[in-house]
Amino acid sequence: MIQRRKEDHINISLEKDVEVEDDYWSMLKFVHRALPEVDMEEISLETEIFGCELSAPLMISAITGGYGGAEEFNRRLSSTAEEYGIGFGVGSQRAALEDEGLRSTYEVIRESHPPLVVANLGAPQLIDQKGKHVFDIEDGKMAMDMIGADHLAIHLNYLQEVVQPEGDLRAKGVLEAMAGFCDELPVIAKETGAGIDADTASSLSEVGVKAIDVGGMGGTSFSAVEYYREGTDKKLANMLWDWGIPTPASIIECRRATDVPLIATGGIRNGLDIAKAIALGADIAGIAGGVLPAANISLEDTCKYMEGVLKELKSVMFLLGCKKVEDLRDRRLMIMGELKDWVI
Ligand SMILES: Cc1cc2nc3c(=O)[nH]c(=O)nc-3n(C[C@H](O)[C@H](O)[C@H](O)COP(=O)(O)O)c2cc1C
Repeated sequence: MIQRRKEDHINISLEKDVEVEDDYWSMLKFVHRALPEVDMEEISLETEIFGCELSAPLMISAITGGYGGAEEFNRRLSSTAEEYGIGFGVGSQRAALEDEGLRSTYEVIRESHPPLVVANLGAPQLIDQKGKHVFDIEDGKMAMDMIGADHLAIHLNYLQEVVQPEGDLRAKGVLEAMAGFCDELPVIAKETGAGIDADTASSLSEVGVKAIDVGGMGGTSFSAVEYYREGTDKKLANMLWDWGIPTPASIIECRRATDVPLIATGGIRNGLDIAKAIALGADIAGIAGGVLPAANISLEDTCKYMEGVLKELKSVMFLLGCKKVEDLRDRRLMIMGELKDWVI
């Protein structure tokens, strides 16, 4: 069942339009600097997040694992992450914890060595869902060991759970369960496309998460992905297609609420989006849906895609006179359209 679901998610994301309609990143505009006073060759993309040195402020966010075809995806994605010195997160490891035969689809990433490797489990599975296996701290350690991870992402995906026919809909007690994990393991709390608000960010940082991946709305919609799966209530999925907090607004909410490092995933599709995310207060950005088509073709295409994104980021930094990633933090951004209503 889980294998089938993971395969459906990849195929649907590749074949159908599963993006949210509005592009919230385009509602932000940098104020151009006519005199950049920086040489392109001295611009550095290097940065650091919770002690990990990255060659650029970026990670490939959790996408897959847990069915045959996922092995090659993960090989290409992690090799690309190593090549460009960026972070890499695998998709939910639930399948491999429940079926040892599927471990190789995740373990494959041990062939390469990205500077930041993030394991992944779902928050709904940390509590009792009517007799299903409840993941405990030992499972969390096993997931991390499987891929040699530095951190464990616990994903919050209630939009997906409420839309999918087989969804886990008990949510009471999840924060307490996450607190238990945080006592023992370096946890990143991660949304999956609906964003995190200020109150939730405060609660998560109080229980000791090491970072928050805001996983905001504006890119892949999990309601849309589920819409195309067999057996889904299409009316419900359509109604919730663009449910959530736009990623830029979520960064602002979370940054106001907590000092923990922030990862900006959700609709990041080019280097300009990354620069905007950092200017708003994120430490690094994350890309999932955007890299998928290239990863479906070859390692070479995946590297070419990443090279393009990083060149775009450097070009934007040049136009803004930024020698270092941190310089982006005080560059002026104009907020337009609907996004303005979200952030006031
Ligand atoms: C095919 C696919 C599968 C995904 N599976 C997972 C997952 O297993 N665990 C997780 O935390 N996030 C998962 N995500 C969510 C992404 O990590 C990310 O938060 C979300 O897609 C928004 O980013 P994007 O707009 O760049 O796609 C998945 C995304 C895609 C496209």
